[in-house]
Amino acid sequence: MPERTYTVAVIAGDGIGPELVESALTVLDAVTSTTPFALRTVAVDGGAGTYQREGAALSDAGLAAVRSADATLKGPVGLPHVRMPDGTEAGLLGGILRNGLDLYANVRPVTLLPGVESRLRVEPGAIDYVIVRENTEGLYASRGKGVGNERAMADTLLVTRAGCERIVRHAFDLALRRSGAPADGVRRVTCVDKANVLRSMYFFRSVFLEVAEEYPGVEAECRYVDAMAQALVMEPEHFDVVVTESMFGDILSDLGGGTVGGVALCPGGNIGDARAYFEPIHGSAPTLAGQDRANPLSQILAAAMMLDHLGEPAAGDLIRGSVRTALASGAIRLRRDGTAEGGTRAVTDAVVGALGS
Ligand code: IPM
Ligand code: MN
Repeated sequence: MPERTYTVAVIAGDGIGPELVESALTVLDAVTSTTPFALRTVAVDGGAGTYQREGAALSDAGLAAVRSADATLKGPVGLPHVRMPDGTEAGLLGGILRNGLDLYANVRPVTLLPGVESRLRVEPGAIDYVIVRENTEGLYASRGKGVGNERAMADTLLVTRAGCERIVRHAFDLALRRSGAPADGVRRVTCVDKANVLRSMYFFRSVFLEVAEEYPGVEAECRYVDAMAQALVMEPEHFDVVVTESMFGDILSDLGGGTVGGVALCPGGNIGDARAYFEPIHGSAPTLAGQDRANPLSQILAAAMMLDHLGEPAAGDLIRGSVRTALASGAIRLRRDGTAEGGTRAVTDAVVGALGS
């Protein structure tokens, strides 16, 4: 009998989502066969397919299931042709889950794993930072609220003091638990903004610098987002934890993915004070769906982050260790576009095969 059981809501999503989630659940099954805890999974329908069938991307019952779970594992959602009357995508769950459940920290590790060839000339280990993206305000707070007409359209970027303080604290608290930047071992939080141009961004930076005073053991620095895009390519080893507004974090996390073998290797957590869900940072790649071609590592690594969040970091480490071993040994081989040789099931088998080795 397991000593403890966690309830996990599972949203398979659209496109490649179901096969990625199946892969991650296979890995979780293998892991929990040896751990003192168990997972009880509850399938929840959500995404563009759900919108087409039910008229909403997530039903009230689905939201209630996510609310009452200990954590949620979510596949990528959205289909390009499934749109709202205003032209934005209908199948996305960000507005419902991130804002609806107040999951204000979008935590996105960018790590160059052994055996993965970066497009940059860097050693494995040289890229290991975490983007902490503010997830409930910024420019995307305007989701569904843009105003205008056929001649002009405006979206508003919102920064509140409370929103800023909590995301900046999340970033510094994370830096305290990490071992610093690869280049120099210095615990560092980099604030990324556009404080030279926008008042909202000057405000974000001012609150960042105020909160930084509470963390004398962590270096605080600020960069403009344009310079940061260059720095993440030219000197990625300098960075440890990066905190930023939602749209900047959205863009920079894909840029970061491009330096570590592609977004197909990149997981993320959407974390609030009470609830959290874990997902790949990429989309549902409908053209790859159903062909056993998608690389499931982002989803498998998202499952590992979920285990950390549930308070089972040893199990999370087991998965991450196994992914590293499988990549380093050549049991998983990635193509330059981020897809995996052998396909989704072969990668899953390689990760399961390397567990505990
Ligand atoms: C992401 C995605 C979403 C976002 C989209 C699909 C709304 O790009 O999670 O990065 O911008 O947050
Ligand atoms: Mn994105």
